[in-house]
Amino acid sequence: MTNKERIQLLAKGQMLEDDDFRALLTSLTKEEEQFLYQEADRVRRQHYGNTVYLRGLIEFSNFCRNDCLYCGLRRSNKNCDRYRLTREQILRCADDGYNLGFRTIVLQSGEDPYYTDKMICDIVSSIKKQHPDCAVTLSIGEKEKASYQAYFEAGADRYLLRHETANPEHYGKLHPAELSCEHRKQCLRDLKEIGYQIGCGIMVGAPYQTVEHVIEDLHFMKELQPHMVGIGPFIPHQDTPFRDRPAGTLEDTLHLLSVIRLMLPSVLLPATTALGTIHPMGREMGIKAGANVVMPNLSPQDVRGKYLLYDGKICTGDEAAECRSCMERRMEAIGYQVVQSRGDHASFQNV
Ligand code: 5AD
Ligand code: FES
Repeated sequence: MTNKERIQLLAKGQMLEDDDFRALLTSLTKEEEQFLYQEADRVRRQHYGNTVYLRGLIEFSNFCRNDCLYCGLRRSNKNCDRYRLTREQILRCADDGYNLGFRTIVLQSGEDPYYTDKMICDIVSSIKKQHPDCAVTLSIGEKEKASYQAYFEAGADRYLLRHETANPEHYGKLHPAELSCEHRKQCLRDLKEIGYQIGCGIMVGAPYQTVEHVIEDLHFMKELQPHMVGIGPFIPHQDTPFRDRPAGTLEDTLHLLSVIRLMLPSVLLPATTALGTIHPMGREMGIKAGANVVMPNLSPQDVRGKYLLYDGKICTGDEAAECRSCMERRMEAIGYQVVQSRGDHASFQNV
């Protein structure tokens, strides 16, 4: 089979054999690459037209009890300047976001036990009360199922929890011993069962990652059927053990975005900030390769430069309004349209 035939099979909804995934992920000619992007874009247009959904990201705390080897917020990074936003600051950011046209607010933090379930529920329900037409997404890590249930009942709509890698051995090389791949996967299953729209995902080119791992990730995604998949390149952070590791590449990230779009045709797929960090036009290229979501930052300007998962993060000096209009201009320039909508997964629309 040629790569073109493999792309056509995937686009028709067929799952590929591992050998075919391997070929697609490792041996594309420039011409085949263009065909892959074109097919991914065609499939994304069948489901979402040329629209791009916006998420306003509030990074409300950079404290973290975990020590993931790749992450700049890891607890053993003594150079990280830690901050927490108050309930009032978070709600003000959400209001600002609403006024800028955001209809999804993403609350993200390290795993910070300072915020009790009660506080998270209060923040979520306050945002939903103030803005009933907004979706609230949580991205606050691994919790007990009862906590996930409580946030859901408080009004949270979606939950992002990247699985990072579906391979337990690889997981063990990226995380301290107290974290487990199986627990991470169980959290995702719990979240889905509760009724959230869920997002999993990986870093492309993470240390020790092989193409076999990525194929396992694709199988995991196919089985889990997440509503969203967050992928971006790994980028080293100077104060982590992976400081000297190479970043993931633009090409590998774009190829994987397209393959995921073809494998999960109606999935919500962000062109991430990390992709915009490794190339000035990275997010635009991500959208053209099948992504349909962008997540500009809504965090207050004085803390933006402190939520540094990796080196060189873009947009740390900009205001929320600047990022919002910048994104609109960037998308229009390549023929896509940012829309003011909750941007639910197709299976959750009009429910
Ligand atoms: N490079 C790229 N992405 C990273 N993340 C954490 N550290 C890095 C890094 N160094 C990603 C992880 C996490 C998400 C919030 O950010 O995948 O799940
Ligand atoms: Fe932040 Fe362009 S998206 S400045």
